[in-house]
Amino acid sequence: MGPLGVTLLLALISLTVALDNGLLKTPPMGWMAWERFRCDTDCANDPENCIREDLFRNMADRLVEDGWKELGYEYVIIDDCWMSRLRDEQGRLQPDPIRFPGGIAKLAKYMHDHGLKLGIYGDMGTYTCMHYPGTTLDKIELDAQTFANWSVDYLKFDGCYSNPVEQMLGYPLMSKALNATGRPIAYSCSWPAYLGGLPPNVNYTLLGDICHLWRNYYDIQDSWDSMQGIVDWYFNNQDDLQPAAGPGRWNDPDMLIIGNFGLSMDQARSQMALWAIMAAPLIMSNDLRKLDNGARAILQNKVAIAINQDSMGIQGRRLLQEKSHIEVFWRPLSKSASALVFLSRRTDMPYRYHTSLAKLNYEAGNYEAYDVFSGSTVKGLNATTEFTVSINPSGVVMWYLYPKQQSKQTERLRYQHNRGSRLTFHKAGPGHRDVL
Ligand SMILES: *[C@@H]1O[C@H](CO)[C@@H](O)[C@H](O)[C@H]1NC(C)=O
Ligand SMILES: *[C@@H]1O[C@H](CO)[C@@H](O)[C@H](O)[C@H]1NC(C)=O
Ligand SMILES: *[C@@H]1O[C@H](CO)[C@@H](O)[C@H](O)[C@H]1NC(C)=O
Ligand SMILES: *[C@@H]1O[C@H](CO)[C@@H](O)[C@H](O)[C@H]1NC(C)=O
Repeated sequence: MGPLGVTLLLALISLTVALDNGLLKTPPMGWMAWERFRCDTDCANDPENCIREDLFRNMADRLVEDGWKELGYEYVIIDDCWMSRLRDEQGRLQPDPIRFPGGIAKLAKYMHDHGLKLGIYGDMGTYTCMHYPGTTLDKIELDAQTFANWSVDYLKFDGCYSNPVEQMLGYPLMSKALNATGRPIAYSCSWPAYLGGLPPNVNYTLLGDICHLWRNYYDIQDSWDSMQGIVDWYFNNQDDLQPAAGPGRWNDPDMLIIGNFGLSMDQARSQMALWAIMAAPLIMSNDLRKLDNGARAILQNKVAIAINQDSMGIQGRRLLQEKSHIEVFWRPLSKSASALVFLSRRTDMPYRYHTSLAKLNYEAGNYEAYDVFSGSTVKGLNATTEFTVSINPSGVVMWYLYPKQQSKQTERLRYQHNRGSRLTFHKAGPGHRDVL
């Protein structure tokens, strides 16, 4: 089929496809196997950590018993390496019979019985990234129906071993096929990550129509370097990425690695803070059976979670990159509130950063801030008040900032005013004062 044929076919598909089924009005929260457990299939020698049904049941038990579920962490997501190397006699995907003896439907029931949801992994292509059976174009409907029959709630659809034309056809087709099953299934598309993540190769309008979330960039690894590389890429490209996000359509900078080996406590707070600013999925990949209290407190921070899950669903932006290697990030929130994150890229000592809200584009008015990780409140702020935050090397200070109400009258006026500025946000943004 020539390029014109592909374009026409795409036009037809996009007319009939919409995965607007009400799912993921806020970013998904949960747990995914990949970053921590990879493709460990050696259950004989490493039974605790290999990819098998017990691992997912163990994590589900932890989510329920250790307070995660009530905070919103609800998806348990299987990644690559769950499959048998062969499809069954009817051509259907099947789990590895030794490692998933109960089958996926039974595992899904386990999740549902515990108030959780099950996610699964497939790949638009000849093979998965780890060389298990892929979903070629002719298998898309069959695989969508198989997942739906198992009562799966979420599909991560990777893109190894396919070319851009197959991807251009396959990702919309899978969206349509999932919709046709009648089962609401959250759909995570790795498509943009295979196209460099940016327009014009990636059409974010189309992605928002067919997917609930998408991976734009490389996989996260268990290191601060990897995390910083991801943060840099997302905020360097915020003009393209930030407007793409909204309720039911999220950029996915990949899993939370908090609780593993690569991040210090300060760096872990930085990941939690920046993922909240980015309205990113909060999908942990760690060992919930062996989490220390520091990591647990960061991942269970209720205000950081509330900021991430804000109902307006507006992704935040980087406002400033200072010569001092301090960066400031901002996200508008409902009820005229906002979040600010002060990040230090320094490697010496806590840095005392002086600024005011006016320098960060805030309007005149009186404000109060809740310091998300210290729990203290900063009172008596107006836009011109100079203040100082002390930011640890590779750490953050994160504020939840809200207008301090003077009277019913000014409150109402400010509400109307902020509604106006919110409507202009997507068009203009705060960019006029950026020092980028
Ligand atoms: C299928 O798409 C239609 C149209 O967007 C939507 O109303 C419906 O909820 C979707 N159903 C499922 C199961 O995704
Ligand atoms: C899904 O379930 C239906 C009803 O039991 C069955 O007819 C169909 O063959 C199943 N499809 C797949 C792909 O498993
Ligand atoms: C992107 O996709 C949308 C929705 O399918 C379509 O209307 C628009 O024309 C596309 N934009 C480009 C530049 O191809
Ligand atoms: C803002 O607060 C400062 C003290 O932090 C005060 O000196 C100033 O008068 C206040 N400005 C307004 C407009 O309220």
